[in-house]
Amino acid sequence: MYSKFIVANWKMHKTISEALSFIDDFIPMVKDIKDREIGIAPTFLCIASVGKAIKDTNIKLCAQNAFYENKGAYTGEISPSMLKDAGVEYVIIGHSERRKYFNETDEVINKKIDACVKEDLNVIFCIGETLEERQKDKTTEILKTQIIKGLDKINSPETLTIAYEPVWAIGTGVVATESQIAEAHSFIRNQLREIYGKVADKIRILYGGSVTPENIKTIMTIDNVDGVLVGGASLDPVKFAKIVKYEF
Ligand code: PGA
Repeated sequence: MYSKFIVANWKMHKTISEALSFIDDFIPMVKDIKDREIGIAPTFLCIASVGKAIKDTNIKLCAQNAFYENKGAYTGEISPSMLKDAGVEYVIIGHSERRKYFNETDEVINKKIDACVKEDLNVIFCIGETLEERQKDKTTEILKTQIIKGLDKINSPETLTIAYEPVWAIGTGVVATESQIAEAHSFIRNQLREIYGKVADKIRILYGGSVTPENIKTIMTIDNVDGVLVGGASLDPVKFAKIVKYEF
């Protein structure tokens, strides 16, 4: 298993100067961390300047999205090869906000994952059920469909990280319970084993949804939790550093 992976998803927050000021404050707080991997996903607008600011540090540059073509007449889009060129190592694909507000289907997400892995980019593939789906007892069915469709013909498990993010826990302050997280992560691990066999055990499965400095330690002790994807609490350098430096 790789080291634990803690990723900031800044979503649509921070101007370039705000992003650089965060990085200035954050680097000294985490510079001695060697036993876990740290990632930051700024907006596309900040990618180049944040990438430059974290070059040669222990922080990995991540992106929040990518299109599935490498170039062409796709106004407003950014391609995997452009991200690779900008120094991006990981791309978040299939976040529930992309599924909800930008109508991304499992098929589109699959094309995006495929385009990213072809450019040798690592993918953080997000899956998760809505509250309604959970209440109707459809959680595992939804996760299974998202995994099977999203990973269709993706034959490079070594490039994959999965993020389990129950939609009802994102930005709500309602964190999933330990047993809900344990159950979902173990289900995801088994699904990955069915597709990839034994190598599936090396795929990191992150939890996302209202992670804070207060609950990180408990979350990280749950079986099959290999890291976290953090939204709100990653916007403040002190809070995010506390999450990164959780003690186990
Ligand atoms: P949150 O977001 O930490 O603000 O709940 C998590 C995410 O959407 O990745």
